[in-house]
Amino acid sequence: MACNVKTWFALVATLSLLANLMPLVFGEPQVSCFFIFGDSLVDNGNNNDLDTTAKANYAPYGVDFPDGPTGRFSNGRNMADIIADLLGFDKYIPPFATASDQEILMGVNYGSGGAGIRDETGSQLGARISLNHQLLNHQTTMSRLALLLGSKEAAADYLSQCLYYVGMGSNDYINNYLVPQYYPTSRMYTPKQYATVLIKQYSQQIKTLYKYGARNVALPGLGLIGCTPAEMATYGTNGSACVDVVNKDVAHFNDELSLLVDELNNNLTDAKFAYVNITEISIGDPSAVGITVTNAACCVPSSTMGKGQCVPNLVPCSNPGNYSFWDAFHPTDTANVFMAAGAYSAMTPLLSVLKLGSDEGTAIL
Ligand SMILES: *[C@@H]1O[C@H](CO)[C@@H](O)[C@H](O)[C@H]1NC(C)=O
Ligand SMILES: *[C@@H]1O[C@H](CO)[C@@H](O)[C@H](O)[C@H]1NC(C)=O
Ligand SMILES: *[C@@H]1O[C@H](CO)[C@@H](O)[C@H](O)[C@H]1NC(C)=O
Ligand SMILES: *[C@@H]1O[C@H](CO)[C@@H](O)[C@H](O)[C@H]1NC(C)=O
Repeated sequence: MACNVKTWFALVATLSLLANLMPLVFGEPQVSCFFIFGDSLVDNGNNNDLDTTAKANYAPYGVDFPDGPTGRFSNGRNMADIIADLLGFDKYIPPFATASDQEILMGVNYGSGGAGIRDETGSQLGARISLNHQLLNHQTTMSRLALLLGSKEAAADYLSQCLYYVGMGSNDYINNYLVPQYYPTSRMYTPKQYATVLIKQYSQQIKTLYKYGARNVALPGLGLIGCTPAEMATYGTNGSACVDVVNKDVAHFNDELSLLVDELNNNLTDAKFAYVNITEISIGDPSAVGITVTNAACCVPSSTMGKGQCVPNLVPCSNPGNYSFWDAFHPTDTANVFMAAGAYSAMTPLLSVLKLGSDEGTAIL
């Protein structure tokens, strides 16, 4: 354990240093463009104008963010923001909802709170942008890029040099399989069958993204959903540190996703996919970064409205930096720094491919 602490501290420290130095050394990010697909863990404002309780554009969300509440489900930055920072971007990747023509050249964030691999996932909360819909939105971006760059071919060429991060599936559990009062899936499938059904659909969606020209794709697995304060409050932990049965259900998804990544790498040889083991990252010792409270939310979580999200305008804890969880589902800025450092490190194989493939990158090296 002591060894773990040191390793993590060293890694986080090194990466923060790199993040600070990279733009100075190279004067530009390590990749030209970064596209993000996902749910509330990466949403940076796409749900703000949707009719849903799955949105976070109100206080105390964003209390530690320079712009205040933005729609991010955190007190500060989310994981996608920090990964972009580690990649050397000096601006956040813009949300699809508001991205301008010039901005889409750096990539687009399609993330939507409540969204899932399955279209119906999250519907009890209201509107959301499912992964299928996010892929349609990406087609819109592709058309805009073709106009900007002069041709479809130029856009395709550009898109093949981008980095992609696709993090989906949490809501297919939290806002589908684990709420049988709203969805029949837990009566239709065993946990293992459900994981297989999800991965089958996910596989098609990832291949669609490949068809749209993505060649460097990070695929994070799911975190320990059974350790979120919300699931612990719902199920009780039965003397354990977390809801073990929920973690077991979700582990099936992760096992199958990691096998899918191997298959995709074998079958689509002109592309590279990287599995990001979120569980492995999260069990590194977060006390190395000052996190001591891992089982409670910092803000006051609602028991009704968007169950587990912060109650609007109530005063949160005074030391969010010591908490893993901002609300009953979502990490604090500090926890996101910790998680993003691990994810970034798991994504480095994708970066080396991109550098090899780009003349500009080679010249810099
Ligand atoms: C609690 O633990 C006991 C003993 O291990 C087990 O039989 C029971 O099914 C568990 N209950 C829940 C809700 O996990
Ligand atoms: C990979 O190729 C094999 C052999 O053609 C095929 O059976 C499998 O379904 C493919 N996997 C994916 C994820 O496309
Ligand atoms: C992720 O890491 C955890 C902890 O090291 C390990 O138990 C698990 O098997 C890994 N998952 C996959 C899919 O590789
Ligand atoms: C709480 O976090 C601060 C930094 O944000 C750190 O200095 C302090 O040691 C942490 N407290 C505990 C009890 O870990």
